[in-house]
Amino acid sequence: MPIPPVLSEQWLSIKKIGAECMRERGASSALPPIYFLHVWWARRPLTISRAAILGSVLLVWSPDWPESLRKQFPTEESYRQRFLELIGIYGDPVAERKLIAWAKTRNVKLAQNPYSYKRAFTSSPDPEQMKTLRELLHYRWGETTLSVCDPMAGGGSIPFEALRYGFRTLANELNSVASVILKATLDYSLRFGPDLVGDIWKWGRELSVRVTERLSAFFPKEPGESIHAYIWARTVACQVTGKPVPLSPNWWLQKSASPVAVKLIARPGDDACSFQIVTGQAALSAKPDAGTVKKGVGRSPWTGDAIDGDYIKAEAQAGRMGQQPYAVGIKTAGGLCRATRSQKATRHPSHSVTECVSGRKCFPPASCFRSSPSWTSFRPCGPRSRRSTGRIGRRRYSPT
Ligand SMILES: C[S@@+](CC[C@H](N)C(=O)[O-])C[C@H]1O[C@@H](n2cnc3c(N)ncnc32)[C@H](O)[C@@H]1O
Repeated sequence: MPIPPVLSEQWLSIKKIGAECMRERGASSALPPIYFLHVWWARRPLTISRAAILGSVLLVWSPDWPESLRKQFPTEESYRQRFLELIGIYGDPVAERKLIAWAKTRNVKLAQNPYSYKRAFTSSPDPEQMKTLRELLHYRWGETTLSVCDPMAGGGSIPFEALRYGFRTLANELNSVASVILKATLDYSLRFGPDLVGDIWKWGRELSVRVTERLSAFFPKEPGESIHAYIWARTVACQVTGKPVPLSPNWWLQKSASPVAVKLIARPGDDACSFQIVTGQAALSAKPDAGTVKKGVGRSPWTGDAIDGDYIKAEAQAGRMGQQPYAVGIKTAGGLCRATRSQKATRHPSHSVTECVSGRKCFPPASCFRSSPSWTSFRPCGPRSRRSTGRIGRRRYSPT
């Protein structure tokens, strides 16, 4: 007897699910709370994860279903509607997004929230929905205790949703950061329940205070600013002069009607390049498109000579690649542009950041290494050794 197909083999309302996912990710202040446990850069929206799970285990509708299911789902349309509700979509997010886009293009302020229901991911299935789900699973699979396994679970969106639907859930992950995130998101939340929230706040605050105390001296702030990112370039020694060559594919900081760029300055008498932040016409005149590395091949600002890609990789693999900070992204209230309240801008890195990253100051402080013997394999000072990944260029470090 042929195996009846599951929903995702024949139908998924991709437009609605896609629109709901865009809504889920649309506002950085209203993201799913699990995002804030720890940064992970490849999180999948919860809504599509739900749809993928249920779409893989629920049958397509059939007029031959038993009476009890036919009563609940007299038509295919009613079944599909219930599927969408089961994943939290109680309206038409496509139409609602269209309305928002229309209002934006016409600069119209909508009188009320165009969405008729709360964000899908904030709805957990209620007992009635869970009962229906179990009936559907039992009809198809002969049991309700199905297992969902994500062998490369990353940030854990799929297993998180699998748990919400009561599946036996297996999550596997190679990366140690993701593994810890998975442990906290899936295991601890179930094991310790809501009480865990208080502990996370308490110990998170404690950790934040201790880290701030020890590291803030290395990352000074000017009054009224908050640091958005430190931007630095990796460096290799110029093959002719031996001086550090900051490698960046370009020197843009902001490409817009008000351009901002970095002007790279290599004076023959200096030991290292210096940087000047330039705006407007001066930014364009600095020719920021001309970086110091392109397709793996470098260019020395000291001599103008090409730097062979194999030399750059060999230097990186030998642990001789350094780094040089060249700008700090900052957020200031009512900053440079008076039109917005919080404006991102850039300034030069302070002396202490430069010293810290170039290794003249210990980072983290040497005392950290003394107090934690297991850390001694790391070098507290100097350029960090790093195997080349073949990708060379600028790096950002965000303090939050
Ligand atoms: C695209 S991401 C995860 C996506 C995740 N399933 C989701 O839907 O959000 C892929 C993950 O697979 C992990 N990974 C890669 N190779 C692996 C392996 N051999 N064993 C376990 N995890 C692996 C990576 O570390 C990464 O976190």
